[in-house]
Amino acid sequence: MSAKIVATTPFPGQKPGTSGLRKKVKTFRQPHYLENFVQSLFDCLEGFKGTSLVVGGDGRFFNREAVQIILKMAAANGFGRVMVGQGGILSTPAASCVIRAHGAYGGIVLSASHNPGGPDEDFGIKYNIGNGGPAPEKVTEAVYARSRDISEYRILDTPDIDIDEVGTATLGGMIVQVIDPVEDYAALMETLFDFQAIRAMFAEGFRMRFDAMSAVTGPYAHAILEGRLGAAPGTVINGQPKEDFGGHHPDPNLVHAHELVAEIFGPDAPDFGAASDGDGDRNMVLGRRFYVTPSDSLAVLAANATLAPGYARGLKGIARSMPTSRAADRVAAKLGIGAFETPTGWKFFGNLLDAGLATLCGEESFGTGSDHVREKDGLWAVLFWLNVLAARQQPVEAILREHWSAYGRDYYSRHDWEAIETTIADAMIADLRASLPTLPGQRFGAFEIAAADDFAYTDPVDGSVTSRQGIRILFACGARIVMRLSGTGTEGATLRVYLERFEPDPARHDLDTQETLAPLIAIADQIAGIRRRTGREVATVIT
Ligand code: G1P
Ligand code: ZN
Repeated sequence: MSAKIVATTPFPGQKPGTSGLRKKVKTFRQPHYLENFVQSLFDCLEGFKGTSLVVGGDGRFFNREAVQIILKMAAANGFGRVMVGQGGILSTPAASCVIRAHGAYGGIVLSASHNPGGPDEDFGIKYNIGNGGPAPEKVTEAVYARSRDISEYRILDTPDIDIDEVGTATLGGMIVQVIDPVEDYAALMETLFDFQAIRAMFAEGFRMRFDAMSAVTGPYAHAILEGRLGAAPGTVINGQPKEDFGGHHPDPNLVHAHELVAEIFGPDAPDFGAASDGDGDRNMVLGRRFYVTPSDSLAVLAANATLAPGYARGLKGIARSMPTSRAADRVAAKLGIGAFETPTGWKFFGNLLDAGLATLCGEESFGTGSDHVREKDGLWAVLFWLNVLAARQQPVEAILREHWSAYGRDYYSRHDWEAIETTIADAMIADLRASLPTLPGQRFGAFEIAAADDFAYTDPVDGSVTSRQGIRILFACGARIVMRLSGTGTEGATLRVYLERFEPDPARHDLDTQETLAPLIAIADQIAGIRRRTGREVATVIT
């Protein structure tokens, strides 16, 4: 069995974004395509000879082939050991957990998150560093630069290795350790949450439905919820990971998790519902006939954090992405801890977590997490909620209502205008930017603009500045409109309009969200000219 050196030529555009390199499966299946990227990555890493690498993915189409290629290339490049999830499976947060738990050099996560899977759909590869978090930009930039002048890669000339049985084998001089993908992760969860109290709650008849959306969290949810916590069999639906996610779009929101939503808003609704996405880092949380916005979820978890053993000593700070509602800030203020507002994208939380400035963090886009790993974590958020429910012995809705009474309610919604022609979207944002100085003082009925800017962030740890992160329009009454272009859309441009209105009066906590936000929706349109420029009447997706 010998390492062979294969001559190759560069593929254009192997530029990893913040969530790695994401392309169609067809692109990845071209001869040498994945190999070029993996070799470019290895060429940019230093001092890894003899160390451990973690490998796993969300189980989507091409996951297994990719794992085999990576194993053979890791061996040929001199890694000492690869820890690979059984069947090639590791959720994104579990990969982060395994890297940290075993002090691995780094890890390769195979996923395209919530994007559909299958031969004609998406695949992705992402590199995480030793702290368990996504590689910083200087690493991904170096990998991209290397990919543009790569001329050969190293791979072991050997048959595929069995990754379906837990155990250890050797590949050339490298150890391949096939690990149970759930074990380290479940053990970490047991240190954070009161499993005994949650188990008792299930034993007393508490009913829950978890929709794994035929994606990676199935095995985790089965093992933890139905296994360790004793939830009734059938609690987990769509729990078998499928290469094409059963043809579904594994994104946990009210639109895509329709099976769960129908049940939770139906006649015999369970007490609690939750869903996670393709690779297990996102979460949606529901009470009986009740939807919890991700922004509220972060605030409620923060306010109740000390009920969970892992957070009993209190939080160091709370971080949220700028478009996330300011509900979490109110909790931070009451607790007397730091509140951080970062640009969209999980990577900005890493420094705050590493520096011990923040413990919890979250985004309005169904991402919540803490310093336990360096990725957002879907099942962790669900277990956190179960811990809070077990401790408080109240329905989800009652907990939210009490929270709103104490802190006020932030009515919140995001309107996405998808697939706008790029030139139109760019012109709209450019004109908005130019109009910023003229906005303060403008009145729209009862709404007066108090301030407007284009969000810029100075990282408190390394001092780096990230600018032009979205237009913020603040009203004197406390309402807010944020407008920015998506950085992850694939077709044309996506305009995201985030609408938010603060309501302190508990007598007004039962209003319809869209109706309450209607004046702001109209103002956003008036200021940005969305309908006029796009020729469309309504947003594509409203969450
Ligand atoms: C979207 C979400 C953002 C999240 C990112 C990656 O980015 O809005 O919160 O971090 O996906 O999951 P966007 O398309 O808005 O740039
Ligand atoms: Zn994801």
